[in-house]
Amino acid sequence: MKAFKDLALSRRSIRKYTNEKITDECIKEIISTALIAPTSKNSRPWYFMTINDTGIIERLSQCKKNGAIALNTCTHAIVVMADPSKSEAWIEDSAIAASYIQLQAEDMGLGSCWIQIRERMYDDNTTATKYVRDILSIPENIEIECIITLGHKNEDRKPYNPEKTMWNRVAFNTWNIEE
Ligand SMILES: Cc1cc2nc3c(=O)[nH]c(=O)nc-3n(C[C@H](O)[C@H](O)[C@H](O)COP(=O)(O)O)c2cc1C
Repeated sequence: MKAFKDLALSRRSIRKYTNEKITDECIKEIISTALIAPTSKNSRPWYFMTINDTGIIERLSQCKKNGAIALNTCTHAIVVMADPSKSEAWIEDSAIAASYIQLQAEDMGLGSCWIQIRERMYDDNTTATKYVRDILSIPENIEIECIITLGHKNEDRKPYNPEKTMWNRVAFNTWNIEE
């Protein structure tokens, strides 16, 4: 297990995967971490769907014109959803859970990538949400935040360099930022 800072530095978006499957135990471990992510007022508005059916993943890979490339080779995906009626902070809650998924995957040596679904379009007339909703039979009252692709890494991405940390984005006591 990596110290948390090493984990955060080494997590990078992985968009190419081998065809080696992830075990059910690993998927369960990842989901169990998402399920302890903090939520506003402890409302826990999220839902998660794990996908390992290659036919379904192939259809999901068509969900938008750009930015879905990681779905071309991933072996698993987790759809991160929420019920907005359970919390006005459902977007934040879903995003935190999605981040937990990515960090847990990295901790187990697996690659992941966030595929944005909310506010994205499948084509000129159809949202990516509707496209994914129809494939997965997701009810109308449930919103889709993103899909997190998962798999064994098939590309090397350099960890973040702590020397390049963007301290110019940090203010001290007042807005003393100079860009
Ligand atoms: C809210 C959000 C939406 C993103 N959407 C996509 C996406 O649709 N497709 C994709 O390939 N990567 C997506 N990413 C990954 C970012 O491109 C990536 O995190 C960023 O370029 C930094 O690279 P890193 O993850 O390797 O640190 C998204 C990330 C976030 C946080």
